[in-house]
Amino acid sequence: MSYALYKTQSMTNPKIQKADGKLGIMVVGLGAVTSTFITGVLMVRKGLAKPVGSMIEYDKIRVGKGSAKRYLSYREIVPITELKDIVFGAWDVYPADAYRSAMYAEVLKEKDIEPVKDELSAIVPMKAAFDKNFAKRLDGDNVMEGKTRWEMVEQLREDIRTFKRKNGCARIVVAWAASTEIYVPYNESVHGSLSALEAAMKADDKEHIAPSMCYAYAALVEGAPFIMGAPNTTVDIPAMWELAEKTKMPIAGKDFKTGQTLVKSGFAPIICTRCLGLSGWFSTNILGNRDGLVLDEPANFHTKEVSKLSTLESILVPEQQPDLYTDYYHKVRINYYPPRNDNKEGWDNIDIFGWMNYPMQIKINFLCRDSILAAPLLLDLCLLIDLAARAGRYGIQRFLSFYLKSPMHDFTNHEIPVNHLFQQYIMLKNAIREMGGYEPDEEID
Ligand SMILES: NC(=O)c1ccc[n+]([C@@H]2O[C@H](COP(=O)([O-])OP(=O)(O)OC[C@H]3O[C@@H](n4cnc5c(N)ncnc54)[C@H](O)[C@@H]3O)[C@@H](O)[C@H]2O)c1
Repeated sequence: MSYALYKTQSMTNPKIQKADGKLGIMVVGLGAVTSTFITGVLMVRKGLAKPVGSMIEYDKIRVGKGSAKRYLSYREIVPITELKDIVFGAWDVYPADAYRSAMYAEVLKEKDIEPVKDELSAIVPMKAAFDKNFAKRLDGDNVMEGKTRWEMVEQLREDIRTFKRKNGCARIVVAWAASTEIYVPYNESVHGSLSALEAAMKADDKEHIAPSMCYAYAALVEGAPFIMGAPNTTVDIPAMWELAEKTKMPIAGKDFKTGQTLVKSGFAPIICTRCLGLSGWFSTNILGNRDGLVLDEPANFHTKEVSKLSTLESILVPEQQPDLYTDYYHKVRINYYPPRNDNKEGWDNIDIFGWMNYPMQIKINFLCRDSILAAPLLLDLCLLIDLAARAGRYGIQRFLSFYLKSPMHDFTNHEIPVNHLFQQYIMLKNAIREMGGYEPDEEID
């Protein structure tokens, strides 16, 4: 197929709707990540900051080949909502508006918050669908009182409809950037089908139905794509896949891939590409924000641990290279240490071996800022999942794995997640090309 034809297709791609009208981004959790994200977008809109880290705003993708090749920004390939067309909403357990939340989080300096104080102050969180058993360390009072799981769903649906109407939004995306819930293991009798999930919600099954599932269910039924930014099980169950298919809505998750896991999924390919061996990988970090406080609770940390551990398994695969990757020891720790607040420090000790099994070590010390890394991811995920919906894509959006620590995949059909950062990047680029009417022309195997 000639480049000219691809170009014609992209201009007339009938499958993709334009990004007309306002996009409502409704975020569950108005904490450090969300307040940093919203403040940043508002500052960029005023020309007072740069959206560094956003692939949509900076990356370019090659389209066409040979002498016809060109490098285009995402917006030149597909219709993506402009930042000026975004309206923000949120739910939180605490009543602080986005301005107070940004000040409390202390991620950004006052000088980077004050210019958008009025807009931030107007973003007041709606009452949270919350159950303290899922996050014991939180004790805010901005919560829906005495509601069953099904009543939570109904209230959240009402919240979404009201927000959409009041703000004149053409479309809504719902994203979870709230605390990590305790680990809810997959239970086939509850999570295996949509009818079972709905029955459990109606029976107010508080053990198997996490509050996050109520948000996801409400979003999908209201025709809004859903993103899971924490490691919660939420949409990673067949019942939600069935709902996404029924409502023709895209879903993405889980867990933003920001600091240590980004390093891991970018560094592990160096080891496997050069056929070096791995005997152990120890990752630990200290952080002192509210996220760290919640994760200090063992049941909440376990959810995160499962997510973080999964990264190496599909990159350094023992079955494919038994001499190199059998029985490596992989350990992940998170330590709550208040003085550091959002400025996480991570240490990775990697024990590798080379020629004739001689051992070597690699040490990585990443002094990052958690929410500064997460904010552009949240922006890209929201805009790209809205794009996916307009392109008629629904169900698990594997092309968004690039942004996620523990990418969703159909485990009931033994589908393997892609964790390798550079393979994920190819999946992302190919999906953008395809949605823009260009040929997906990079292979990942
Ligand atoms: N920052 C990163 O680098 C990063 C990376 C991956 C994942 N995450 C995840 O993103 C999430 C947000 O991180 P953060 O640093 O902003 O945390 P945070 O503690 O500052 O904010 C989370 C907010 O969620 C609220 N909340 C909890 N349960 C809720 C519910 N049921 N409904 C509504 N609100 C609820 C809390 O009150 C809190 O204000 C966490 O789950 C974290 O694990 C963050």
